[in-house]
Amino acid sequence: MKRIQIINGPNLNLLGKREPGVYGNQSFEEYFEELKKMYPQVEFSYFQSNHEGGIIDKIHETGFDFDGIVLNAGAYTHTSVAIADAIRSVKTPVVEVHISNVFKRESFRHHSYLSEACKGCIVGFGLSSYRLAVDAFVNE
Ligand code: DQA
Repeated sequence: MKRIQIINGPNLNLLGKREPGVYGNQSFEEYFEELKKMYPQVEFSYFQSNHEGGIIDKIHETGFDFDGIVLNAGAYTHTSVAIADAIRSVKTPVVEVHISNVFKRESFRHHSYLSEACKGCIVGFGLSSYRLAVDAFVNE
């Protein structure tokens, strides 16, 4: 059974309530239930933190045993050398995801410190970005 860790960064605890025009109306908890049903063969863990260090700790904790990490680091994507270094420090491959198409948005969202350290990136498919990332790990 493959083990996949999903990590959500700052403000993603407010999915469903936060800027619904950009991020939709569904909470992550609700989507997560659907995702688990779609992949009964996967053992999922979910973690959310509004703190950079919390995200780094979780990458360290799961980055040697899990088969994949799906990471939406939120705004830290565009600022965090420390999260990029954490991704480079572990063995588990990380797929970067974004709900919105960051390239259609403000220019400060066009650069990611994380992408270069990641196995790949999935951007702009709404919450389905997470499913596509899981699919990449399941079918590789
Ligand atoms: C986001 C895009 C980021 O620019 C933003 O700061 C977020 C969410 C996304 O999933 O579209 O918090 O990562």
